[in-house]
Amino acid sequence: QLTNSRYRLGYHLMAPAGWINDPNGFCYFKGYYHIFYQYHPYSAEWGPMHWGHARSKDLIHWQTLPTALIPGDSEDKDGCFSGSAIVKDDTLYLIYTGNNYYDDGDPDHYWQNQNLAYSQDGIHFTKYDKNPIIATPPTDNTQNFRDPKVWEHDGHYYVALGSQDQAKLGRLLLYKSDNLKQWQYLGPIAHSQSVEQEGYMWECPDLFHLNGQDILVTSPQGIAAQEHQYLNLHQTGYFVGELDYQAPKFKRGDFHELDQGHDFYAAQTMLTPDGRRVLIGWLNMWESEMPEQVDGWAGALTLPRELIYQNNHLYQMPVAETKSLRQQKLRDEQLMVQSETELVNNQSQVEINLQLDSTKTTAQHFVVQFTDPQTHANVQLEYDFAQQLFTLKRSDRSDARFAQLRPNEKLQVQIFVDTSSLEIFLNQGESTITERYYFDHAPQISLTSDQALAFNCQIYQLEKQSNNYQ
Ligand code: FRU
Repeated sequence: QLTNSRYRLGYHLMAPAGWINDPNGFCYFKGYYHIFYQYHPYSAEWGPMHWGHARSKDLIHWQTLPTALIPGDSEDKDGCFSGSAIVKDDTLYLIYTGNNYYDDGDPDHYWQNQNLAYSQDGIHFTKYDKNPIIATPPTDNTQNFRDPKVWEHDGHYYVALGSQDQAKLGRLLLYKSDNLKQWQYLGPIAHSQSVEQEGYMWECPDLFHLNGQDILVTSPQGIAAQEHQYLNLHQTGYFVGELDYQAPKFKRGDFHELDQGHDFYAAQTMLTPDGRRVLIGWLNMWESEMPEQVDGWAGALTLPRELIYQNNHLYQMPVAETKSLRQQKLRDEQLMVQSETELVNNQSQVEINLQLDSTKTTAQHFVVQFTDPQTHANVQLEYDFAQQLFTLKRSDRSDARFAQLRPNEKLQVQIFVDTSSLEIFLNQGESTITERYYFDHAPQISLTSDQALAFNCQIYQLEKQSNNYQ
C-alpha cells in the first residue's frame, strides 16, 4: 500500500500503512509494553477510527500486531476513539470512546459513550457484550465526552474523561468503579477558567501521581496564542496540583505547555514495572501538512519520554532504553566553532549531543542547521544567549517556534534526528521541541556562531529498524 518510503522513520513507531493519530492504551502486560493508536488502515486520511496495536520488550523495538478494535457495532458505529488500558486479574482491559454520527450527515453532530474490551493474550480483543459502560454524558455537558483514562487507587478504579460544559469550557469528569463495568459519576473535578487561557474542550486527559504531586496532562482545544507559546491549533500541556478523592476535586495551578514544537499532541502516560512515568505523544498535529500522505501513510508516535517532576517543573527525557539505538560513535570531541562547521552529513538516523558553558563566551548566538543538500530546504535551531531563547525555523513553514529556557550556565542540546522527524531535548528535558521535516535527501547538519565558541560534541549513528514496517 505504500507507494514511496522516502519519509518512513527509522526508529519511531508507525503503522504499516494508513493514518495514525493519538497514542492509546499505553500499558505493560505479561512481559510486554503495549501501545495502541488511533488508526485508519484504509487510507492516509483520518476516517472511521480503529485501534492499531504494537508491543515491545524495551519501549524501543516494536512489533506490529493485528488491529485491536474495529468500529461498526451499535455503540461505536463510526469510530473507536481514544482511550486507555488497565490490567486486572490477568486480563488486559481497554476503555475507549464510541463515536456515533446522527443521520443528518452533519459531521459536527454526534454522540459519544464509553466502552470496554478485553483480552487474555494481549493480542485478540473482545468487546464487552453489555457496552456501553458509560452511555451518556451528564446533563450539563455538550456532546463532547471522550478519551477515558483509567487507573487504580486504593482498591477502586477511576476514569478521568475529557469533556465540555454547556458554557463551552473544557473540563475533567471523574467516574469510579469496582469492576470496570459499572461506573458511578462523581462529578467535574477541574475546569477551564476561560477559552483563551485553558481551552474550550479538554481532549486526552491523563491524571497521575509523580514525586509528591498529582499531575494532569491534557490537550485543550482553543487556547489563545501568545508571543512564544500556544502557537499550534491545539496544544498538550499540564497542570500540577492535588487530587482530593473525597471532595472530589483536583486543585491545581496554571496550565503549562509540554512541548514547543509544531508536531506534538494528545500524549498519554504509563507507569513502568520499575516505577517510571513514561509519556508518548502523537508526532504530528491536526493542522500540519503531512506530505507522506501521498505515499499512503501519515503519522507516527514520539520516542517514549520519562517524566521527572522537580523544581516545580515537568522535565521530559528520552527513556534510558533509547541508548540501545546507538551504533557507531561518529564524533566525540571538543569543537571550536565560528564559521559554519559540518557536524554530520548523509545520515538519516543520528543522535547529536552538544554541551557548552554559556558563562565562558561573549558570543550572542549559535545556529544548528539541517539542510537538504540538493533542494536546500532547511531547519534552523538558533539560540540567543541574552534571551536564553531557542527559535526553530523551517523553510517549509512561515511560523517559527520558541523554547524559553530558565537561567542556566551549562547548556545541553540533545537532538534525535530521524528520516522525517526531529526531537530536541534542551537542558535535560526542561524544554522539548518536536517536529516533522520533509527533505528529499539525508540532511547536512552544521553549526555556526557569531564568535568562536567551544562545544563538547558527541554524535551517534542510530539503528535503522525495518521490523516495524511489516
Ligand atoms: C485527539 C482526538 C481525540 C479523539 C480522537 C479521534 O486528537 O480528537 O479527542 O478521541 O482524536 O481520533
